Amino acid sequence: MDGMSVVIVGGGAGLGLLLAQMAIENGASAIGIIDLDPISAEAALAPARAEGVKLAFAACDIRTSDAAQTAFGQISKALGRVDTVINSAAIYPRKSMLDITDADWDASNAVNIKGTFHMCVAAIKQFRAQETEGVVKGRIVNITSVDAFKAHPQNAHYAATKAAVVSLTKSFAQEVAPDNILVNSVAPAGMATETARTSGFLSELSAASPLGRGGEPREMAEWVMMAGGPKNTYMTGENIIVSGGYIYA
Ligand SMILES: NC(=O)c1ccc[n+]([C@@H]2O[C@H](COP(=O)([O-])OP(=O)(O)OC[C@H]3O[C@@H](n4cnc5c(N)ncnc54)[C@H](O)[C@@H]3O)[C@@H](O)[C@H]2O)c1
Repeated sequence: MDGMSVVIVGGGAGLGLLLAQMAIENGASAIGIIDLDPISAEAALAPARAEGVKLAFAACDIRTSDAAQTAFGQISKALGRVDTVINSAAIYPRKSMLDITDADWDASNAVNIKGTFHMCVAAIKQFRAQETEGVVKGRIVNITSVDAFKAHPQNAHYAATKAAVVSLTKSFAQEVAPDNILVNSVAPAGMATETARTSGFLSELSAASPLGRGGEPREMAEWVMMAGGPKNTYMTGENIIVSGGYIYA
């Protein structure tokens, strides 16, 4: 990611924050974080600023278009340009299927599907407006989940949103292929972020893994780096499943 400008939505914690740190390790020169709460990311990334990496942070609830577009505009203005956008923000509250309420549906749909949609739109407008460097005009990577493909107790509403994001990824990829913008998604299996640890499903998923263990966030993040980095010049509309053999697509 040498010299690239990378925006991470949901970069305030967990996989998103790790992705910011890995983008910097991989040579990114500018990082933008959009999150409900970017405060701890600001502290965690401070050493990179001291080393000359341009950093920008926006506190934003991505559920509504106006807020999402405004935050993206602030970040892209501060960074100067944007080469890659990673959508990692999501919620995954667990609930038995028959107890899922309208409010539960609305909450998951609004963040996981609609928020991701708003950020894809913002990214594409930015990519189209800026000068292209190289063949690819911009890359988007959406984080989905193995749950889009395999049922897992207590998360029917979450699983449906992630299947929707796999679908959105394909629709966006087709729409912007003529612009040379690449849109892909990565579907991790359970991984030990703080939120996942407290949700309590990790031991069950590692027991179900043919490799006999859950994946580490870094093992998932490598594939996001690949899809969003300069080595990806031709893959678009794909969903990369990183499940440790939990599912075979
Ligand atoms: N952890 C897992 O086991 C696992 C497995 C498969 C897929 N995933 C996916 O990976 C991604 C990251 O998961 P994680 O475990 O790092 O989660 P996390 O809770 O650690 O991080 C998610 C971030 O999104 C932000 N966010 C939530 N709602 C938001 C909103 N309305 N507006 C703006 N920001 C908002 C949160 O503040 C948080 O910083 C998610 O898309 C998740 O669905 C996680």
